[in-house]
Amino acid sequence: MARHLLNVTLRNAPDDAGYRRFRVGELELSRDEYFAHVTWPSRGGRLTHTLPADVFLRAMMRCVAWDFFYGWVYFDDVFGTRNLYGRVQFYAGLYVATYRDRNAHYVATVPRDVALRTCRELLLDWTNAGYDPFVAPAETGLGWIGPKRGSNQAAVERRRGTCRRMIGLPGDAPIRSDEQGFTVNRAFADVPQDAPEIHAEPGFEHALHAINLFAHVSRADTTWNPSVSSVCGNSLFCTTAEEYLMPVKHANDRIEWFLQLSDQIEWKIEDRDTGELRARVVMRAGDVAAMPADIRHQGFARKRSMLLVWENADPALPEAYARGELPPSMREHVQGGQP
Ligand code: PHB
Ligand code: FE
Repeated sequence: MARHLLNVTLRNAPDDAGYRRFRVGELELSRDEYFAHVTWPSRGGRLTHTLPADVFLRAMMRCVAWDFFYGWVYFDDVFGTRNLYGRVQFYAGLYVATYRDRNAHYVATVPRDVALRTCRELLLDWTNAGYDPFVAPAETGLGWIGPKRGSNQAAVERRRGTCRRMIGLPGDAPIRSDEQGFTVNRAFADVPQDAPEIHAEPGFEHALHAINLFAHVSRADTTWNPSVSSVCGNSLFCTTAEEYLMPVKHANDRIEWFLQLSDQIEWKIEDRDTGELRARVVMRAGDVAAMPADIRHQGFARKRSMLLVWENADPALPEAYARGELPPSMREHVQGGQP
């Protein structure tokens, strides 16, 4: 049942656990001490899907900070968002045959700014004081459990870091440092913090730049949050520190590359639309992989590790893949064939 309705935030009294209810189209979002609940209309009455509130908050944190990212962000197999660049779809059951085959799924499509405003308000309301959905669970504890207790505005208003050309260049985003309030993470205490020496030929002093990227990532204060470290046209190098479970299953609307900079991440790769398992990819330091444009992926990092995500921000790509003009995997690109 596809609907295109404007969003209305419900400004009613909080539920008995103290949290407010929110609405996107006819989708209603509520939380209690342990769970987030998503309900939507169907022919036989409203349907409900329940997921753990911490899972919901960690996923919502990324949606808000990333402006809904590229393509699909699955909070779990049932509920998620799709970025249509200017508009955002919220779906329930759309990619689950049990719902879709019975026409019991639901999609609300709303303007991007309405989606962002609603999600920001929800995140602020549902996040208790002391709980930070952007950091590793071991670093924030269980404050997400229980009735509403205060809020954590500074944490939930963090945005994805970005730069114009390259971090550390004069006038561009700074490299993380103690002075900036970014201390070396406990897991990266052994990462050297020195900086490269730059010896430029006379006349090229302003044309050469080098940084210690490992030192920068060792000081990341969030997990599973790629921040842009360098930009060349539409080519973005995004670095991130990863620990525990990637809070979303992400499905790209384009190909992206992973360069494993340290330690190890295990990736679970599923079909984008059916969720059927396609592959398990274990990446160790130095490994490089291309993620196809027709999959979802979720990472598992037993130890905090460093990852570089190479993104192509060309706005024409989603259409080109959707029309079949570009094959979904690099192998087919290289072979020049169609799937
Ligand atoms: C991804 O979707 O490719 C992704 C997202 C967040 C990360 C790493 C990878 O931290
Ligand atoms: Fe991705």
